[in-house]
Amino acid sequence: MQYGHFDDDAREYVITRPDTPYPWINYLGCEDFFGLFSNTSGGYCFYRDARMLRLTRYRYNNVPADAGGRYFYLRDSATGGGDVWTPSWMPMKSALDRYECRHGMGYSKISSCRGGLAFSQTSFVPLGDTCEIHKVTLTNESKTDKNIELFSFIEFCLWNANDDMTNFQRNFSIGEVEIEGSRIYHKTEYRERRNHYAVWAVNVPIEGFDTDRQTFLGLYNGFDHPQVVFDGKAKKSVASGWAPIGSHHIKAKLGPGESKTFVFVLGYCENPEDQKWEKQGIINKKPANTLLSKYGTSEAADKALAALNEYWKNLLGRFTVDAEDKKMARMAGIWNQYQCMITFNMSRSASYFESGIGRGMGFRDSNQDLLGFVHLVPERARSRILDIAATQFPDGSAYHQYQPLTKRGNNEIGSGFNDDPLWLICGVAAYIKETGDYGILNEKVPFDNDEALADTLFVHLKRSFDYTVTHKGPHGLPLIGRADWNDCLNLNCFSKTPGESFQTTANFESGVAESVLIAAIFAFTGPEYVEICRRTNRAAEAEYAEKEITKMTEAVDQHGWDGDWFVRAYDAYGKKIGSRECEDGKIFIESNGFAVMADIGIKDGRAQKALDSVKEHLDSKYGIVLLQPAYKDYHIELGEVSSYPPGYKENAGIFCHNNPWVTIAETRLGRGNRAFETYAKICPAYREDDSDLRRMEPYVYAQMVAGKDAVNHGEAKNSWLTGTAAWTFVSISQYILGVRPCFDGLVIDPCVPSSMKGFTVTRHFRGADYHITVDNSAGAEKGVKSITVDGNPLVGTVIPAFGDNKIHKVVVTMGK
Ligand code: GLC
Ligand code: GLC
Repeated sequence: MQYGHFDDDAREYVITRPDTPYPWINYLGCEDFFGLFSNTSGGYCFYRDARMLRLTRYRYNNVPADAGGRYFYLRDSATGGGDVWTPSWMPMKSALDRYECRHGMGYSKISSCRGGLAFSQTSFVPLGDTCEIHKVTLTNESKTDKNIELFSFIEFCLWNANDDMTNFQRNFSIGEVEIEGSRIYHKTEYRERRNHYAVWAVNVPIEGFDTDRQTFLGLYNGFDHPQVVFDGKAKKSVASGWAPIGSHHIKAKLGPGESKTFVFVLGYCENPEDQKWEKQGIINKKPANTLLSKYGTSEAADKALAALNEYWKNLLGRFTVDAEDKKMARMAGIWNQYQCMITFNMSRSASYFESGIGRGMGFRDSNQDLLGFVHLVPERARSRILDIAATQFPDGSAYHQYQPLTKRGNNEIGSGFNDDPLWLICGVAAYIKETGDYGILNEKVPFDNDEALADTLFVHLKRSFDYTVTHKGPHGLPLIGRADWNDCLNLNCFSKTPGESFQTTANFESGVAESVLIAAIFAFTGPEYVEICRRTNRAAEAEYAEKEITKMTEAVDQHGWDGDWFVRAYDAYGKKIGSRECEDGKIFIESNGFAVMADIGIKDGRAQKALDSVKEHLDSKYGIVLLQPAYKDYHIELGEVSSYPPGYKENAGIFCHNNPWVTIAETRLGRGNRAFETYAKICPAYREDDSDLRRMEPYVYAQMVAGKDAVNHGEAKNSWLTGTAAWTFVSISQYILGVRPCFDGLVIDPCVPSSMKGFTVTRHFRGADYHITVDNSAGAEKGVKSITVDGNPLVGTVIPAFGDNKIHKVVVTMGK
């Protein structure tokens, strides 16, 4: 069943009932201030770092689900004791005569109606400022006057989200607020080492306020029964320790048909160290005044929202798709790219599955994420690359993660994931192909964040490449280290101790465990390194690199082929993983997808055999599972992969991230029908009417869908923050629709289902716009018969980068 529908013209998903099978969320903010926002107004916000600078509190894994948000309570005094409800449904689960939530690009809008009072809330983070705006409008749709009371509610987090939910002996004594007019200031720890505070304000005079949680809710009450609201009167409580909140009490008298709008702002403000105080104990409110003066009227809020809409319209205008298949078109043109921007901002830090306190930016993750947004924000991709590269070690290995605030490598996780270095080449190559900016290679970038060790970005790439070359095992294949792309293939871990980290423990470093996947990544991304060398006059280096790539593919030929598919790895005893010789885990998806992406086995038919085996053994109704048969028992020599119950996560779940590798691999073979099938199976829009089973948002990819061994086969988890976003966008835009940046220009090389009779793509590329129309009335799966550019026939399939700020018409005819 469906819980809503897409509105493509508005670029919105419209949720039409509040009781979605899981909170369906959106992200507000695209610069420094971010909010997670659910379809019932749940969620939280933070400034730059979800762990260190969290403004509002949220309770993960709470009952009921989704506890914490920016809530509004309404009370209609006319109805005797007063009808009280929450117009966003939660937290009171109020019956509503009407409800709708529209999640759009960087904003969300909830509207509802009860007893003739219409409510609407538009929430967003304006460009250029560090705040959330919640514009609330009440409209009397009844025929009689209404006396309405509106209460706002947020609960402040004491900044460090981890400390906030663990260190109660201290925290219950430190909460502090200030109230001035309609502005509530949260200033916990400002008296000591913080120079920032939060402000929760509304643009009208208020009847009263509350800032102490227990006073507002009443003893032993939850968010669903705030005593103050039921009493219809704020108590003007001033929090002192315990749990500071912010609640405004507003009275609104509305005649029939009358509307009133209120602009609520939740802002983050900083002061210079020497200007923290107005006088002793009273915070300097200048930055708050400046911020709030900008959003004092509903017109100002509307203007800020219009600017945000313009921003997204321009951004998504850089790549648009139109086709008969609207599901594909809306995903590729709108939501997939939107999700790529969210992974750019969040990496894997804050979602409804990632608590925002654990993980920083992944070295591997961030490089791959780049593939999905480099065409949207190339300048920001450039600085992201330089940040990532600065956490590389001089020997080419890398911190597995770094912290977004400090941009420093994370010592707790350390290094040793031997695929990491190669993703840097992959990311930089994507950037150069998109922009033609070889200058980035000359940028001086520190190693290990140490300026004294800085060298050019090109040297970083060389160290990446060489790291693999110099870290090989007995079969000439790359050593896996702690794990490769599959974080759970921990072949040197040998952990017996409950709770020990699979990723950072190495109880038995055999020095022989090898990864065929890393070999394939090397063979895929190595040639890009060769091209970069060639194009920057480094012929000798190019020649050396080519030889190393050949050696590597030979090693895969000799030791990485199992007869019908590619082996996955060799364990610490030198035994195969992902082979017919194994009892469980006979075949894995990753090495097969990636080896074919790297063109290994294309000429001699092994590639086709490998992908046919993937289809035969790993495919399912909802996507391709990671391995088969699932591990039934824990294998100490394999690590976390075997720790999961069969069908979940890396143990034979549909780990969506690697499905597009198979999609891309299928396009290498020219099998457009199969490529599209693998694309569509994990694409959420195709499962919209199956939302009860899938549970996650139909507009975003999830990291994992339960595999065929799981009880709830088809149920998704971990939506939003996943490398699936970037790779599916690459697979659909570059390989299926086939509009692919290369070093010389834009390649046009579609590989589509034979039923797709044509499509159009507009693509901004290196300072020009290309309007590409593809005619496939021939019903081909692959192959371009002719291309014209601005009416002139093109020789080959590479459109040059004109860079002339003009629109160029490209007409492509598929067929033989
Ligand atoms: C998670 C990690 C990613 C890893 C994948 C497979 O998505 O963020 O780095 O590659 O799991 O284990
Ligand atoms: C666990 C997860 C994996 C993720 C890793 C990150 O191993 O299964 O998906 O990449 O944690 O540390």
